[in-house]
Amino acid sequence: MPKPFPTTVLVLASGFLLIMASSGCGRVELNDELEYPDRTSPVVLMEKHPDQGPPGFPPPGKPPVSVDWLVARGVSVLDPSSITTVAWASGWMAALKEESGRHFGNPGKPRVGATDTPSIAALSAELGMDETKLAEGSRLYRRLCVQCHGVTGDGLGAASLWLSPAPRDLRTGDFKFISAAEHKLPTGFQPLKARPRTEDLVKTLRVGLEGTSMPSFALLGDGPLESLAAYVINLSCRGELEQAVITGVLRQDKETSQAVAKNPAQEEVIRYKRMLSTTLEWEDPEADVDDFMAKLPSPSIKLYAEKYIDRMLREYIAANKNPIPVPAYPYSEDKPIPPASIIAGHALFKAQCVNCHADYGRQSDLRFEVWGSVVRPANLTLSRYKGGRRPIDIYYRIARGIPPCAMPKANLGDSAPAKAGWDLVNFLMALPHPEHLPDEVRAQVYGGSLSKKSGTTP
Ligand code: HEC
Ligand code: HEC
Repeated sequence: MPKPFPTTVLVLASGFLLIMASSGCGRVELNDELEYPDRTSPVVLMEKHPDQGPPGFPPPGKPPVSVDWLVARGVSVLDPSSITTVAWASGWMAALKEESGRHFGNPGKPRVGATDTPSIAALSAELGMDETKLAEGSRLYRRLCVQCHGVTGDGLGAASLWLSPAPRDLRTGDFKFISAAEHKLPTGFQPLKARPRTEDLVKTLRVGLEGTSMPSFALLGDGPLESLAAYVINLSCRGELEQAVITGVLRQDKETSQAVAKNPAQEEVIRYKRMLSTTLEWEDPEADVDDFMAKLPSPSIKLYAEKYIDRMLREYIAANKNPIPVPAYPYSEDKPIPPASIIAGHALFKAQCVNCHADYGRQSDLRFEVWGSVVRPANLTLSRYKGGRRPIDIYYRIARGIPPCAMPKANLGDSAPAKAGWDLVNFLMALPHPEHLPDEVRAQVYGGSLSKKSGTTP
């Protein structure tokens, strides 16, 4: 039998633990008993990017999303706390909490897919999101990411208000730096969102986002980075489901408002049908919401959650299977970039990119992002790229665009898209270096006075 500790040691040890806990070393508030708080931050419905951009960046200490600016430009912004005034919606919110816990767990015990919905559990297994991995991801997240991204992934962690650009709100399912091609789902439908491939998330974590406060976590090693990526998907799906239900209760678009005005007593059913239709049509393009509802005793958030989670996970799986095809580099790899390629890329840039990247990005106007936050189209003369500086990273950006910023993919034409794509990349890679630009391009970008000789040498 092991010898019991002398009492003095126990007293000392417990005193030490108490000090640890009260001084925060024990991370009391982020321990395994932690539960996700309900959403209180506004839901921005950026269905169309407003014509008029934001007046500036929000000042330090203020939230990254200014509701006033958005509303003044015709964007709908929903306030989750107003749900308490909708009598029938309390049932939905209680059910959402229940389903969220069942499918996503809590920070101490995250999962994807309740054990009694084997189909969802199988999809999360296909994404490699097992409970051990998610638990490791959550533990690391609570240690390394919450200060910026917040416990729920709302991007409102303690440090967030003083960072520009603001840490990402991970709850909407939107990501910027993705290498998945545009594709249809096996049922023929477009994904609800442009999903990242898991390796895109791992790369963001490994490299960080240059020019922002998002650091590189490369030293953690591959396993922990994959666990973190899995947990990011967990948080993201959880947040997206929550946002979809809140939107279902509160959205005031024309179609819903007209239907409700005609039949106010049926508001709950009208709104439920609207939500369900997208998830139903994805399973079966012929499905009829009215027929389906006729068989359902009453709107069921449990059923909606299962269908929505199923769809999200299938979209992440499909993104993984559809990488952007990268055509072979059409020039000789051991020779300098041919001037004709840079000239051709410059022409494409002038035709397609200057609307946003005015004066090559040196005089870009601010724009809203899908989250309602503010972004400046990159100054492309600076050689600073959030999503990576390798030619392949730049290729991905132009081949897919940056969906949450409404940056469209480049139009590379039908005749020689591979050449056009690499010409654009070659132009962008040379742009920050006047000495690498052919004379005629340099004169247009940096002015006639900057002769080749006065450019900095490589
Ligand atoms: C110091 C603050 C900070 C910390 C710590 C931090 N991030 Fe970030 N993160 C950011 C910022 C800022 C952005 C958004 C940059 C932008 O959109 O311009 C971001 C963006 C992201 C994105 C979005 C990438 C995309 O493609 O859109 C992911 C995913 C992410 N962070 C995950 C994490 C994870 C996981 C951790 C912890 C391991 C973490 N971050 C730690 C600040 C931080
Ligand atoms: C509708 C506006 C818009 C158009 C058009 C547009 N962009 Fe962008 N672009 C943006 C915004 C906004 C950002 C900044 C994203 C950020 O910082 O998170 C950006 C960023 C970039 C970046 C930097 C990516 C990084 O990793 O930081 C590159 C490269 C780029 N754009 C290239 C292009 C090219 C090439 C074209 C034309 C084929 C183009 N853009 C057209 C809005 C646009």
